[in-house]
Amino acid sequence: MTAGDNDIEQAAVVLRDGGLVAFPTETVYGLGADAENPAAVGRIFQAKGRPPTHPLIVHLAGLEQLEDWVKEVPATAWQLAERFWPGPLTLVLQRGPRVPLEATGGLETVAIRVPDHPVALELLSAFGGGVAAPSANRFGSVSPTTAEHVRAELGDAVDFILDGGACQVGVESTIVDVVGDRPSVLRPGGVTREDLEEALGHHLDVPATSRVRVPGQHPSHYAPRAQVVLVEPDQVAAEADLARQSGRRVGVLLPASLAGPVDAYAVIAVPDSMPAYARGLYGFLRELDGRGCDLIIASLPVEQGLGLAIANRLRRAAGPR
Ligand code: TXA
Ligand code: MG
Repeated sequence: MTAGDNDIEQAAVVLRDGGLVAFPTETVYGLGADAENPAAVGRIFQAKGRPPTHPLIVHLAGLEQLEDWVKEVPATAWQLAERFWPGPLTLVLQRGPRVPLEATGGLETVAIRVPDHPVALELLSAFGGGVAAPSANRFGSVSPTTAEHVRAELGDAVDFILDGGACQVGVESTIVDVVGDRPSVLRPGGVTREDLEEALGHHLDVPATSRVRVPGQHPSHYAPRAQVVLVEPDQVAAEADLARQSGRRVGVLLPASLAGPVDAYAVIAVPDSMPAYARGLYGFLRELDGRGCDLIIASLPVEQGLGLAIANRLRRAAGPR
């Protein structure tokens, strides 16, 4: 299902009136409001149950708008924006006067991205301004990758939902801080470390779980209802068996290459291809929750390419609550 011109116009009106619009991006669905309207931005935090100190990403229709929203654009920022926008890359820069502190959680920096999805870009063009949007889920839970996920989780808290089908990337954008001398990755995501390094021409450190303390980077982010336990790939079957014997309703994310008999309540064979795994990841976690599993056993993929973002989200899902 795809949103039509009429839907886009209606959604733009909702944004102008200070309302909330859920919209598809290539990564996950966003919950958007007029970035320059503090009251509208406040409604995002309310709808999500998110603490007001957690900064939001401001979405723009194109690279040419970047200068309107930030104090200055360092050379590295231009370089990355030109190479990866529209796309799953978010840049953290110094806040310009157009960005209210409500959108940045009080920070003097702002996160900006141009998403690569036709519906998102049409909405942003029709609206004209910046759209502040976190992922369209309740605080701490798994990001939505279909309009149905948004409806199920936020329902009436959203004024308008644009349906753009299933998200193609499936994990959130990569966040790169370009304020200091050296760019640093705050969250691995849809743009891989390898692609960033190639564009920059030098090595980048990407901690598995961010060592940088940023509000909104709690370990228990991206968590399904069920408890998540990570084990070595060759231990998945044995761990599932043990947990089942102790009466748990066990869901398993089983690497397809290891597919053998596993005795569990629900088994999902995860794709060997990292882009396909990333696309499916949040849907798999939701499915296991939906089937009533109280424990999810999974293993970490090799942390290369999109495997890095997948492993980051699985670690957080398994983190302390
Ligand atoms: O792919 C994505 O990035 C999706 C789509 C909708 O664009 N958005 C998303 O937003 O994942 P959210 O709010 O769920 O995560 C954005 C994260 C925040 O949790 C915060 O850690 C970081 O971006 N962030 C935002 N502004 C920041 C800033 N000024 N400095 C450092 N980190 C910031
Ligand atoms: Mg989020």
